[in-house]
Amino acid sequence: MQTINQLDALRQHISALRMFKPRIALVPTMGALHDGHMTLVAEARRHADAVIVSIFVNPTQFGPNEDLDAYPRMMERDAELLRAAGVDILWAPPANIVYPPGFATKVHVDGPSNGYCGAARPGHFDGVALVVAKLFNQVQPDVALFGEKDFQQLAVIQQMARDLDFALDILGVPIVRDADGLALSSRNAYLTTEERAAALALPVALAQAAAKIRAGDDVAQTLATATADILAAGFARVDYFALADAVTLEKLQHFDGRPARLLAAAKIGKTRLIDNLAI
Ligand code: PAF
Repeated sequence: MQTINQLDALRQHISALRMFKPRIALVPTMGALHDGHMTLVAEARRHADAVIVSIFVNPTQFGPNEDLDAYPRMMERDAELLRAAGVDILWAPPANIVYPPGFATKVHVDGPSNGYCGAARPGHFDGVALVVAKLFNQVQPDVALFGEKDFQQLAVIQQMARDLDFALDILGVPIVRDADGLALSSRNAYLTTEERAAALALPVALAQAAAKIRAGDDVAQTLATATADILAAGFARVDYFALADAVTLEKLQHFDGRPARLLAAAKIGKTRLIDNLAI
């Protein structure tokens, strides 16, 4: 595996790589890799000849009250994991390569960026769209993979790629869960033992609500019951528990059989968890 920090070197290595490994996959990350990321890497290897992983803690997707400096950085450990997984290139640019002095461009994807986590974290998805657009242009992959855990992020990136004619496939990879059903997240590490046990109420409420909605129960009533169950289990706050169109993320009041997704975010102790489930 080559670890590359400069754009010229990246482009040279990719040109050479393409001669014997023509189809290239990109897995964008911010590092602090866990099994969810490694599943993306394994899936990338199934869809391409070569895999490039980027690690870049992107400042533009952090709000003024979110601690960019506290975000975990463990480059050496991450590089070892990626080398062992057979990754071809680790693209780890410094911030001044991604955002050189005088950088002035913004990307805003209307529609799927609105509401849900977009409401709780204003500007977050603009920062995600901007850095992902840059990564697509830097690497020019044939396919890029993103976890379905951040379902709104995936919808924003798919909308941007359609709107801006990025010529690549974007694959959403199903959520990786612990044995008991809790979605893997680097934030799970912040949970106390009691919070970890109570956190299970989130995937349980999603599964129960999905079964009810599929069976034709009233959507508003089902969402209200799920919200109440999560709060009763010990969560401090439910930011949203909604049924959405799986592509546009528009809220649905009724389930009419088209692809839909239950989306949820809730806070337990000091930790905000998100999860989702296909209907
Ligand atoms: O999901 C993430 O880790 C980040 O939002 C991404 C897609 C790498 C952009 O910085």
